[in-house]
Amino acid sequence: MNGRAPVRDAAARARFGALAQRSIEVIRRHQAPSGAYLAAPNLSVYRYSWLRDGSFIADAMSRAGEVESAAAFLDWCRGVIERRTEQVDALVRRRQAGEATNPAEFLHTRFAVDGRESDEEWSNQQLDGYGAWLWALSAHLARVGADSESHRFASAVEATARYLVAFWDHPCYDCWEENGGQVHVATLAAIAAGLRVASEWPGVPGTVRQAAASTVQAIIRRVRADGVRDGHLVKWLGGSELDASLLFCAVPYRLFEPDDPLMVATVSALSPDLAHGGVHRYRADVFYGGGEWILLAAVLGSYDIAIGDIDAAWHQLEWVAAHADENDHLPEQVSGHLLHPDSLAEWQERWGPAARPLLWSHAMFLDLYGELHARL
Ligand code: BGC
Repeated sequence: MNGRAPVRDAAARARFGALAQRSIEVIRRHQAPSGAYLAAPNLSVYRYSWLRDGSFIADAMSRAGEVESAAAFLDWCRGVIERRTEQVDALVRRRQAGEATNPAEFLHTRFAVDGRESDEEWSNQQLDGYGAWLWALSAHLARVGADSESHRFASAVEATARYLVAFWDHPCYDCWEENGGQVHVATLAAIAAGLRVASEWPGVPGTVRQAAASTVQAIIRRVRADGVRDGHLVKWLGGSELDASLLFCAVPYRLFEPDDPLMVATVSALSPDLAHGGVHRYRADVFYGGGEWILLAAVLGSYDIAIGDIDAAWHQLEWVAAHADENDHLPEQVSGHLLHPDSLAEWQERWGPAARPLLWSHAMFLDLYGELHARL
């Protein structure tokens, strides 16, 4: 508790509820008939479906009762992965034989809505979305009581698990699509969340399930050994920088419990520079000047709930809602407090205005709203 006034009067609640409804509409509108969610409709480079963004969006839609939307995305992912099991087999064989793999050969992080790769140059080699997919899939099936559907997903779950078991400690781009030469702690958290799910999936061979379970333990040991400095988590193994994506280690991926002293120390280390209502990604962020990210501000609110600071969570919700535009669209980031203002124009010239509406922002608002609303 921090002595701030609670933001729960009827007018504020109505406003939050309307934005939640609008968020559902925005997400539905930008879901393709294939089930894929666009990251954002207004930038050509965002008119793709990312496994990472989409998994968070599907999870939020599932929680909000939009089960058909969530199921359609999760099934779209199944198809994307099933069509690439031979690629996974070949990559895994070469990894086991100790052969080097070219970054261009990895599964991509984003796909066109028809499930095809884009040939546009991109930091495609990212692993966290594959863990995120397993995490969202399992949570959705459990939530809607559709465990009997598990068998339909078994071969895609198995391929994903074999891929993650083989490559979890291989460097890849982080969830911000940067620093491809590092092994990132938030990425490891997503992989562990996914492998935990795979380790119990009916229809997945026992050897793969066991490998998934022991990789989860290896990830935890490795993060505790190489992903901690000065008592808090760091952005990549062996590094010293902070990154707000470390919040994902607790919420939603539960690599560590939210009240684990390591998580508490991480969030308090993030707070002075990066988290003050709005949440920056990391100190050196120059992308669109290094603004405050809506989705991170909402995740911080969900973290607050997880540690019992409900007032702080309401304030995060208020901060997020205050940044919806006249169409009730939430952007990717806002520029009221930039870390590197000189870099804003360069990105605006390159890509146009920052992504808006960003479906991932709407999803994280929906999650936070849903959690707080349930506590009223
Ligand atoms: C972000 C990624 C995100 C992608 C699509 C990038 O700018 O760094 O985290 O997946 O946009 O939203």
